[in-house]
Formats: sequence, structure tokens, C-alpha cells
Amino acid sequence: MENKKEKIVIANWKMKLSLKETVELAKKMKSKFTGFKKGTVVVCPNFVSLAEVGKAIKGSPVKLGGQSVFWEELGAYTGEISANMLAEAGCEYVIVGHSERREYMLENYEMIHKKLKSVLNMDKLTPIVCIGENMNERKTDRRDFVLTHQLQQALGGISFLKNQEVIIAYEPIWAIGSGVAIEPAEAEYAHKIVKLTLNDLFGPQVAANNFRIVYGGSISSKNVKGFTDLENTDGLLVGGASLDAEEFYKVAKAMIK
Ligand code: 13P
Repeated sequence: MENKKEKIVIANWKMKLSLKETVELAKKMKSKFTGFKKGTVVVCPNFVSLAEVGKAIKGSPVKLGGQSVFWEELGAYTGEISANMLAEAGCEYVIVGHSERREYMLENYEMIHKKLKSVLNMDKLTPIVCIGENMNERKTDRRDFVLTHQLQQALGGISFLKNQEVIIAYEPIWAIGSGVAIEPAEAEYAHKIVKLTLNDLFGPQVAANNFRIVYGGSISSKNVKGFTDLENTDGLLVGGASLDAEEFYKVAKAMIK
């Protein structure tokens, strides 16, 4: 079956650039993508760069996203930032539960669930919820269970307003930053598991209309071609290759045809 969903390509700049470098990259992105009319292109800079990047990409089709979010709206939560604050800074998207936060900040799926719920309640941002197995889980053949379980924990009991969208990012942890993406067929298989789980959780209509599923892990202009025509792959979440405007543009152009 042909995939007719609008494709999305998301840049995750992680904690890799200074404010100055981030703004320079954002300006390059603006000039590359001006006139790029199809699909959705999002850049996710670090928090302190959000407002400046918002200004730098203004007038281009590139949209702004945060890399994380807290589940409360306001209050005594030192160091945290809410969905409303991200929206005020110009964000339209936010990454929730990236594996690096799961590893270094000990985020778990109970927290990811609370974050997702608050993002949807505030109704100003589209969440990009990350799932994915680690090497040990893969080696012991537990990937399918892990993905289903993560989705159940993150999304169980969530209800949607009619037009709300959630992006599910499948990022096999062992492929991130490794330089080697997984085989497209394997990504597609994992996305099928995601689709079936979403069907179980929400019914086929919501699963089809309110979700897009993207792959992340060592995508570059060299391997993107294998991911562009898959039935259950609606986009990409790109780390390293998004730090160069020309390279990221090549990836986006290949994916969003
Ligand atoms: P790389 O593309 O550098 O592997 O990073 C993927 C990622 O973690 C995006 O969120």
C-alpha cells in the first residue's frame, strides 16, 4: 500500500552546538529551505537557543521544536520548562522521552506518560514520543515486546482532541550515533508493530489519523533512499546529519518528495 501521509523530517541538535553556532546553522537552514513547500521540517535546538532560532527561521517553512518538556504548567520545578513556555518561545513540536534522557536523566515511561498527557492537555505542541530497544533487548529477541510495552506505558489511557497528532519516533538505541542505520525493512517491521499496537490501544481510525511514525538512528544522505517509500514510515528523526544544513537538506529532500 502506498504511504500517502505528509512526510516529516526532524532535526535533533542535542547539546552539540553553542548558541552562536546554533543560530548560524538556523540561518543556513532558512536559506536552504525557503521555497520548500512539501512535508514538515522541524529543528530542535537546545533551550537557550529557541527564541533566537525562532527569529532566524521566521518566514521559512522550517518549524521549531523543543528537545524535552516537563509535565507541570508552572511552579517550583527548578530547571524545568513547560509545554506552554515552549509554545511561547515559538515551538510547535517537542521531543518527549528521547533515549538519551532515558539513559542520563533516568526518565522512564511513567514520566514520559505524564509529559505526553500534559503536552496534549495544553494543546499547543505536537509531541514526538521516542521508543526503541537497546542492544541487549535486541540480542535476546525482546524488541517487539519492548516496543509494545513502551507504547502502552506512554500512551495507555490517553485521549485525543479530534485533530491532535502524536509522532512516534522509533529509535533503536544501539543505532543512534553509530554511523550505521538499521536495514529499512527492519525499521518497517518495527513500525508495523507500532501500528498494530496503536490499533489495539486506540482503534484503527485514530491510529491512522492521529499518528505519524518516524525512524531515527544514523540517517544520512547516503542511506536515506532506503527509507523513502515505506508504507509505515512517515518520516525521520535525524541527529548527526542535521548539524550540516546541506546534508540535512539532502535528507529532507530525499524523504519529502
Ligand atoms: P543520529 O542520527 O546521530 O544517530 O541520532 C539519532 C537521534 O538520536 C535523533 O534523535
